[in-house]
Amino acid sequence: MDVIIRPTAESAEALAAQIIADALKAKPNLTLGLATGATMENVYHKLADMNKKGEIDFSLCKTFNLDEYVGLPAEDRNSYRYYMNFHLFDRINIDKRNTHLEDGMAADLEAECARYEEMMEEAGGVDLQLLGIGLSGHIGFNEPLSSFSSRTRAVNLTPVTMAQNGPYFDAAKGEKMPNRALTMGVGTVLDAKKLLMLVTGKRKADIIAKALEGPMTSMVSGSAIQLHDDCTVIVDEEAAAKLTLKEYYHSAFANDPKWAKYR
Ligand code: F6R
Repeated sequence: MDVIIRPTAESAEALAAQIIADALKAKPNLTLGLATGATMENVYHKLADMNKKGEIDFSLCKTFNLDEYVGLPAEDRNSYRYYMNFHLFDRINIDKRNTHLEDGMAADLEAECARYEEMMEEAGGVDLQLLGIGLSGHIGFNEPLSSFSSRTRAVNLTPVTMAQNGPYFDAAKGEKMPNRALTMGVGTVLDAKKLLMLVTGKRKADIIAKALEGPMTSMVSGSAIQLHDDCTVIVDEEAAAKLTLKEYYHSAFANDPKWAKYR
């Protein structure tokens, strides 16, 4: 695993966007695994800017998102389909038919999850999976005790996640956060050829230290990325506050030739 510490959230987001852009330039028909959440918003806006300037082309790109709430239709402003259209897909030259999220409105959720896994397999698997981490340690919506071999499925959200994402729902407008979601499993995530995790802000300092430097445990789903042999984690200084090997990460980034163009 490579851990890269950037001075600010903005520089961490810019590096994540650049790595994704370079992957797309190297393989125009890239299959991208995408995440939602506050952390990713600027990454998507930066990619959209690069697309607008003609630096990157999404016309052959396919995407699969990690997760979607159960019971929210695409047009609901809290659905992850809505988020993706708003922050990325409506701003770039991607063919929407190549963009995939689980259907949280499906009558048969189990069948929907199986269909999603099949679609990913048919696409040849995910080349580059973007990940955030939740305060519960989740990647996607894989809450504590998710098996490291879990696949796409319906899950129950923890109180920590309900508290993390609850504020996005406006109770005054009758919006209620679902307590269930469909998510790629930890095993599904680990099948991606490359993982790119982005974590910013001081409220994530404890959980990212546990995930990266603590024992691998299903109590912290994010710790499963330690099993992946091509995994880059970008953190800002605030999120890096509790990491014990900070100096080593800084020197590895400064010296490893593979990072030369990003320094
Ligand atoms: C959402 C997802 C989640 C988020 C995590 C962090 O698709 O995969 O694991 O990455 O909850 O969310 P933010 O960025 O809002 O702190």
